[in-house]
Amino acid sequence: MQVVKTLGQFIIEKQNDFPYAKGELSRLLRDIGIAAKIVNREVNKAGLMDILGDAGTMNIQGECQKKLDVYANEQFISALQSGGECCIVASEENDEFIHIEGEVSKNAKYIVAIDPLDGSSNIDVNVAVGTIFSIYRRKTTEGKATIEDVLQRGTEQVAAGYVIYGSSTMLVYTTGKGVNGFTLDPSIGEFCLSHPEMKIPADGTIYSINEGNYVHFPDGVKKYLKYCQVEDVDTKRPYTSRYIGSMVADIHRNMIKGGIFLYPTTASAPSGKLRLVYECNPMSFIIEQAGGRATDGFERILDKEVVGLHQRSCIFIGSENMVRKVEELMKEFSPRQGADKVEAKLEDLGVIGGID
Ligand code: AHG
Ligand code: MN
Ligand code: MN
Repeated sequence: MQVVKTLGQFIIEKQNDFPYAKGELSRLLRDIGIAAKIVNREVNKAGLMDILGDAGTMNIQGECQKKLDVYANEQFISALQSGGECCIVASEENDEFIHIEGEVSKNAKYIVAIDPLDGSSNIDVNVAVGTIFSIYRRKTTEGKATIEDVLQRGTEQVAAGYVIYGSSTMLVYTTGKGVNGFTLDPSIGEFCLSHPEMKIPADGTIYSINEGNYVHFPDGVKKYLKYCQVEDVDTKRPYTSRYIGSMVADIHRNMIKGGIFLYPTTASAPSGKLRLVYECNPMSFIIEQAGGRATDGFERILDKEVVGLHQRSCIFIGSENMVRKVEELMKEFSPRQGADKVEAKLEDLGVIGGID
């Protein structure tokens, strides 16, 4: 008889990896797993229910929220609220972070940052979407947790993961000791270990980028795209272009097959479109733990200073050698130096430049 290991069993088994932890992180991961199952149920029903379309509210980035974004946001927040291990939730869908109050959470030590529904423009067309989460330990030791507890560098993450609602639903996470993937078995309603110790190939043949923005890309990225398209038998070029438009789905595919995902700066997003706290840091932690690489072309994503909840970053993430190649071309053709450096920093921090 084949023995399946559920997410719950796996989490408990791994609890011993953290000798000083008292099970709080395990419980937090379990709460996220439960919320993911609830969101999965709704995502699967999306085509049947009258819940498609805009909820009519705008998030802080000025984007129109879909109803499922709102639903997923509420589900994750409520699971974290009742779980009692989380003192702050910062969500891409909320302008400000949320304090979790109440008796059950009074000793909570963890901060959760979340992109409750990633790739939401794909919902209406039945294409994979995801959830991204990131967990930090609070830094302050007394009173209410503060913004200082939230604005931690990516290197401070104690866990990160994503859920992909695709042809099957998977939850993939790391606590800094490798990456493991669990597939939801709908017949028993459990995530089961299906992808132990995931590793991203060091080389790949897939590049993922919204090439429609080509004209606005830095020269280093333009050169890299041409490099991907040139014929070369030894390096299996030309590479294949694949872009879903859900970061989770694009990176998940690349993690399994080998590849690179790029979201560079553009005219409308001068410091990149994706959010450092909710998207870039957690995905970078996972990819690094799987043996890959993630940078903004100049600096490791996880080392970037975090000064704003909704701060943006450009990102090159995936198979190590592919990311190194873009970095090499960025250095050669789009070097960041002197005044540029200062300007880029100010843009990253949201002090100058616009957002889309
Ligand atoms: P979200 O749905 O959380 O706003 O994220 C969408 C993100 C990301 O998932 C995706 O890779 C990217 O936006 C797509 O952007 P473009 O449509 O500009 O290519
Ligand atoms: Mn997103
Ligand atoms: Mn989102």
